[in-house]
Amino acid sequence: MPAQKLKVAITRRLPEPVETRLAELFDVTLCDSDTALPREELAARMAEVDVLIPTLGDRIDAKLLSGAGERLKLIANYGAGVDHIDVETARARGIAVSNTPGVLTEDTADMTMALILGVSRRLKEGVTLMQSGDWHGWSPMALMGNRLGGKRLGILGMGRIGQAVAKRAQAFGMSVHYHNRRRLRPEAEEEIGARWWDSLDQMLARVDILSVNAPHTPATFHLLNARRLKLMKPTAFVVNTSRGEVIDENALTRALRNGELAGAALDVFEHGASVNPRLRDLPNVLLLPHMGSATVEGRLEMGEKVLLNIKTFADGHRPPDLVVPSML
Ligand code: DGY
Repeated sequence: MPAQKLKVAITRRLPEPVETRLAELFDVTLCDSDTALPREELAARMAEVDVLIPTLGDRIDAKLLSGAGERLKLIANYGAGVDHIDVETARARGIAVSNTPGVLTEDTADMTMALILGVSRRLKEGVTLMQSGDWHGWSPMALMGNRLGGKRLGILGMGRIGQAVAKRAQAFGMSVHYHNRRRLRPEAEEEIGARWWDSLDQMLARVDILSVNAPHTPATFHLLNARRLKLMKPTAFVVNTSRGEVIDENALTRALRNGELAGAALDVFEHGASVNPRLRDLPNVLLLPHMGSATVEGRLEMGEKVLLNIKTFADGHRPPDLVVPSML
């Protein structure tokens, strides 16, 4: 008798080749919606499958986990960040959690550079002017931005993505500074030419652009609060491609509106899609709808990681991208 296939549920539409491969290997419940499942539907899926494939936006908290079925043994997240999953509670209930690190590093770093350039060279204002039809030709003083070469980039969170941003920034002639809970090895620091700051406050006071690349954890929630934002130079820019919760969005909005910062470029927001409307209308604020990892290649590779994690787990081994508490 053939072995029973694992029962797997997805909570969103995924790229077609990923869904096809999942369906070949497992007994899959697909999802035809591209928005987060209502909580009751998510709970229903968790009650009847061996493996759940959620994405960010699915809040898998202790309450939801308490209703999970006995057979749920793996949450194979389609994404690197797992701040929407209560990993501790899942582990305590014998449910492993895996993610998809590594494959979105370069794409997210590229997008970070796009935002750094976008906000410092005033792309939003340029595009808006062109769309308005009011541009009347080149002018010596129009839309002057700031050169990146020679400027100080501060990177908050020097994991894979932070390091990939550092390499790019170096190529743009920027000097790289970073704050991270763990200092890099001297060889790694040398390779990317980065200077470590033990004190985030001191680094903030000195940088021209701050790139937030730290994950959202209890320790990083509102790490960039009103007090710290005030330490930054009024000519400085803030860029965030990590998680909105790392910045107190109201405090950032106030600082921008009061001219205490030169601008911001944000791909992520404290309250997901509920973006503070007072941010949207500022000309020096460039907003994107969480597109950091949105490349065809990256999204397929994320799917491959999910498949590998499930397959390895199904074969009785530790998934290669198991999330363990020391990462949180
Ligand atoms: C992730 O995988 O956590 C990213 O934020 C998605 O872009």
